[in-house]
Amino acid sequence: MDKVFVTRPLLPDLDCFVEQLSEVWRSKWLTNMGEKHNELEKKLQKVLKVPYGSLFNNGTTALLTAIKALNLPFGSEVITTPFTFAATPHCISWDNLKPVFCDIEPNTMTIDSEKIEKLITPNTSAIVGVHVYGFPCDVEKIDKIAKKYNLKVIYDGAHAFSCEINGKGIGTFGDITMFSFHATKLFNTIEGGYLSYNNPDMVRKIYNLRNFGIRSEELVEEIGINGKMNELQAVIGLLNLKLFKKEQQKRAQIKAFYDENISKIKGIRIPKMPENTTNSYQYYPIIIEDEYKISRDELYEKYKQFDIYTRKYFYPACCDYECYKNDLSVKFADLSVVNDIKNRVLCLPFYGELSKDTLHKIVGVL
Ligand SMILES: Cc1ncc(COP(=O)(O)O)c(C=O)c1O
Repeated sequence: MDKVFVTRPLLPDLDCFVEQLSEVWRSKWLTNMGEKHNELEKKLQKVLKVPYGSLFNNGTTALLTAIKALNLPFGSEVITTPFTFAATPHCISWDNLKPVFCDIEPNTMTIDSEKIEKLITPNTSAIVGVHVYGFPCDVEKIDKIAKKYNLKVIYDGAHAFSCEINGKGIGTFGDITMFSFHATKLFNTIEGGYLSYNNPDMVRKIYNLRNFGIRSEELVEEIGINGKMNELQAVIGLLNLKLFKKEQQKRAQIKAFYDENISKIKGIRIPKMPENTTNSYQYYPIIIEDEYKISRDELYEKYKQFDIYTRKYFYPACCDYECYKNDLSVKFADLSVVNDIKNRVLCLPFYGELSKDTLHKIVGVL
């Protein structure tokens, strides 16, 4: 059996890609808001059910830009979760703001909205929630808190492509939501990202920040960076847009298989997606409880012996990184749930091409 990884990228048919590439070659327009870019940007608005959206060259530049676009006071505090990928707190820090790490909720593993208010100080300017694995943050409660204390809300929706809450696109909540289109994501453009927002004034602002602030040959309005997606990335995106739903259906079947078999095993908990939310099918995390025969780390090693490469997303938690734990200006709340879950969580292989045999093997090891 070949090595089994936690995910495999969704790739379009090579001939279709080459056909589309020929158009780009003929046009000789490779980047800077080309035809493919604009087509993809428009189509994504519909798919994600959002009123406005901007493409980026990756999710990290998109998140940096989202935080920048909200003009938060220099050095102010941003309440966020440490149970995420490095990019989330790093973007806050690169934008000259201070991450304040809040605990998470044990089922969805998203920022615990009940614990946010205690962390708010006169210096707090924003909340950055992460829809981790595609599990939605408690958007209603976070919205209430933000209104009460006049805070901005940004969501890192890197894992939440096409998720909906009560039929609304997940990217319509908060001030701005970021999606990542990295190769490991359900929908990918190899590298890529996207910002969605409801405020029409943000269209110009985000366009500027993404393109050096350049409006025309002689007008530079803002101090922007280069966040532009190129035409080759956009072509992959346009082709993968046609494929992602089928991939989600395949993953839904895999999830059903895992759920049925794993729920019978004592000591393994399967986190539940809230009823009102659709699943992106980005990851399949399980939680290894004390009653299970071996620890998460032992199980991870055991899988390796079978050439199955699970991932301990998100261990270590961001609050454990050298750059944060040694920074006295970074605030840590009581992180008891994070510190428990980070040692128990394991993401199993989860992609449409997994064969029946491999799936039986993965469950068999458990
Ligand atoms: C939660 C989270 N936020 C941000 C990012 C960064 O996105 P990108 O890799 O597209 O820059 C990722 C992953 O790659 C992620 O998993």
